Amino acid sequence: MATDTPETARTSTRRAFVAKGAALGVGIAGAGGLLADATSAAARANGTLTDGDAAILRFLAAAEILETDLWQQYNELGGIQDSEVPGGSGNRRYTDALKVLDGDMDQYIHDNTEDEFTHFTFINAYLTSRGAAPVNLDAFRTLPSSKATGAQQIGRLTNLMKLTVDTSWWTRYRSRTKNPDLGDTFPQAVPGLSKGQFPAIPRTDADLEPHDHIQAIANTAGFHFAFIEQGGTSLYPSLVQRVSDPEVRRILLSIGPTETMHFQTWMDKAGNAPALKDPTNGLEFPDLNAPPFGGEDFQTNLIMPEPTVFLDRKFPVCSIIRPTNTEGAAMGAAKALTADGLFIGQTSAFFDALTQLAKAADAARPSV
Ligand SMILES: [Fe+2]
Ligand SMILES: [Fe+2]
Repeated sequence: MATDTPETARTSTRRAFVAKGAALGVGIAGAGGLLADATSAAARANGTLTDGDAAILRFLAAAEILETDLWQQYNELGGIQDSEVPGGSGNRRYTDALKVLDGDMDQYIHDNTEDEFTHFTFINAYLTSRGAAPVNLDAFRTLPSSKATGAQQIGRLTNLMKLTVDTSWWTRYRSRTKNPDLGDTFPQAVPGLSKGQFPAIPRTDADLEPHDHIQAIANTAGFHFAFIEQGGTSLYPSLVQRVSDPEVRRILLSIGPTETMHFQTWMDKAGNAPALKDPTNGLEFPDLNAPPFGGEDFQTNLIMPEPTVFLDRKFPVCSIIRPTNTEGAAMGAAKALTADGLFIGQTSAFFDALTQLAKAADAARPSV
């Protein structure tokens, strides 16, 4: 380390000088785009982030903390319990119901959970390294845990017991003619899940039977997994369009596709959810391969995006992530998670904090 010191000292002196010069440039340049450019140049010169880049990373850190919180709850009851993802002790009946969708569900749940831990931990560490404040939502860990066997009893950020799951991602990725960025809307794959409130984890051990009830809870989880991860799949490419710093861009471009890898896995597994009706609440999971479903919009073995219209209907169709519109992307994500029921029971201070983080991210503009 000693041999690095003189160079480090020279570098920081040079950076300080350049930053000072750039700051002076702001005063001379005056206003408008020049001001933004000079501010950005100053940030680059002294190693700090632009306000916009910090805001984007901070919103993503918050989103990843929220994702981690919900995935942790799934893992405690239905995933693999180990030192990589500690906390729960597993629930055999719920785990078995999830395995009806795929024999490896517990492994996939575990790995998705671990990935989310690393996403927020990395982004927060990176924010700190660039002189920006990391995000901490611990003050909002006030929601109750499941009382079913396997869950640890701690305060949660998210609520998995009253979900209203939007399953239109299913038809959105199977359509060859529509794109939400061009104003199109999409039918629900499981209409019942988009109305009412349903648990995606057993609330108590009383939820472990009868058979079709716990299977409906596991099916709900299966569709919810994909709902969450399609959100991340769109969020990163939407926000990267507002990033200024090449390294921050690299972070978004490197984390975003892992969300897509999660999403595709879950899209495949949701297709295996057995058709049934929950005898306790009437929630129905239809056979998506049979009328009035079926056909390309619903067919369960279409797990890759169907090519569709992109940017303008005049272009040939293209296999793409959608939506990727950058306008209001962070607020859109916050609203979608709220409409999902994840924050039922949260305080107004929580919603204020989330809204503030989202608005700051949406206000970011890339500078050159
Ligand atoms: Fe993530
Ligand atoms: Fe994710």
